[in-house]
Amino acid sequence: MHIHLTLNGEQTTWDTAPHELLLTALRRAGMWSVKHGCETGECGACAVLLDGKLINTCTRLAVQAHGAAIETLEHLAPDQPGRRDNDLHAPSPQATLHPLQRAFIETGAIQCGFCTPAQLLAAKALLDQNSEPDEAQVREAIAGVLCRCTGYARPVQAVLRAAAQLRGEPVPPVEMPAITVGGLADQQPHAPPDDTPEFPDDSFGGRPVDTLTRTRLPVMVVAQPETHVVNKAETKVDAVKLAKGRPVFTDDMTLPGMLHAALLTSPHAHARIRSIEVAAARALEGVHAVLTHQDVSRVMYASGGQSYPQPHPYDQVSLDSKVRHVGDRVAVVAAETPEIAQRALALIEVDYDVLPAVLDPLAAMQEGAPQIHDEADAVGIHDAAHNRSHHIHVKHGDLEKGFAEAAWTFEHEYRVHQVQQAAIEPHACITYWDEDDRLVVRTSTQVPFHVRRIIAPLLACPCAASASSSRASAVASAANRKCSWRTSAHI
Ligand code: FES
Ligand code: FES
Repeated sequence: MHIHLTLNGEQTTWDTAPHELLLTALRRAGMWSVKHGCETGECGACAVLLDGKLINTCTRLAVQAHGAAIETLEHLAPDQPGRRDNDLHAPSPQATLHPLQRAFIETGAIQCGFCTPAQLLAAKALLDQNSEPDEAQVREAIAGVLCRCTGYARPVQAVLRAAAQLRGEPVPPVEMPAITVGGLADQQPHAPPDDTPEFPDDSFGGRPVDTLTRTRLPVMVVAQPETHVVNKAETKVDAVKLAKGRPVFTDDMTLPGMLHAALLTSPHAHARIRSIEVAAARALEGVHAVLTHQDVSRVMYASGGQSYPQPHPYDQVSLDSKVRHVGDRVAVVAAETPEIAQRALALIEVDYDVLPAVLDPLAAMQEGAPQIHDEADAVGIHDAAHNRSHHIHVKHGDLEKGFAEAAWTFEHEYRVHQVQQAAIEPHACITYWDEDDRLVVRTSTQVPFHVRRIIAPLLACPCAASASSSRASAVASAANRKCSWRTSAHI
């Protein structure tokens, strides 16, 4: 069906399906500043101005925009042909930016930048109505756009600064606190204190450990001369493109002929897969692959591998014949569209032998509790029979002395729930073989070298043999051994 609307000041007609989300239609129209976050109306990253009001586009159908005027961040400061806005060394690179964008950059209100387009639009909607808002009004205006990395102090400062500029008032340069390392200039080189802990030999389950990572590191503090850059606040190098909402995140990428993956996940907390039937899914037109535990190599890995060597336990495989939580991976489909991939998932038949589950951490450690990891090939589980995957003992200072000297002591048992950092950017991944037969992995991560180290063995990629924690060696190895790892995200 056809709908007519005004998009960023231009009359336009869209051919849209009745069920298409406004979010999808806008991104299909090239409005990449409209970010795809939670898809459930909670994060606000997908917000645009519809007839001047901030609305979420993931909870609205495109047809509901018929006859409306939509404004996205692309309209705030349109790109000018031939102008390189993101060249910070060109004269006045920020001259083409809106005062709000400039203020966000100047105040350091942008970290990953995923929430920035919607925050800027929320601020614009406010300033269009109220040229002299107070702090509470700014906070209220941007409250619907969640930011998990910058927080709100800097964006509020940025909006108040932009408002003053738009009123024609002079604004002072933004003062950034210099980073100081306590009395750096006065410090003399010194050795580590005597109680610096050594890692025991078996910290990493007996796997080969680099001497430098196991033994005490000498701490050397040396006075440094004053420089123009080091120890000074700087404009973020990617701030301009983020302030313009350009397509820089993995989810913003599309490639010719790209296939879309979808996961079939477990409805059970604990079950063994007796059989899994995928013939109908494979036969569906547009499906290119359906993988189960029968199709992938069984390579054990540690999912929490943000260090080198990776600490134990190695208790995961890509796809297993057993599921250990609701949502555990059962099968993966690759198809020409996300819709075909979803239809294929519905055609997979799984026969589960449902096992007793453990739902409480203390009950899980009792004698006779159902054993979640009973696989024989797991490596380094601390006490698999009692479902204790890892054991960490931390001691710092003299505990008895601390209690003896304390004015008050309290004893209680505390429990915390599982914590997720809740990045607004979705976890996404695009891979392809490049022109030199290198596997390129573009994914939402801060640490491409960790991603490479964990994925390479699973794919039996030769660079797995040299995987290390060093970014430099990751790049060098990638160039030599047919693996390339890029990060497009900043979570
Ligand atoms: S509110 Fe729409 S993506 Fe989160
Ligand atoms: S800068 Fe706000 S979510 Fe990252």
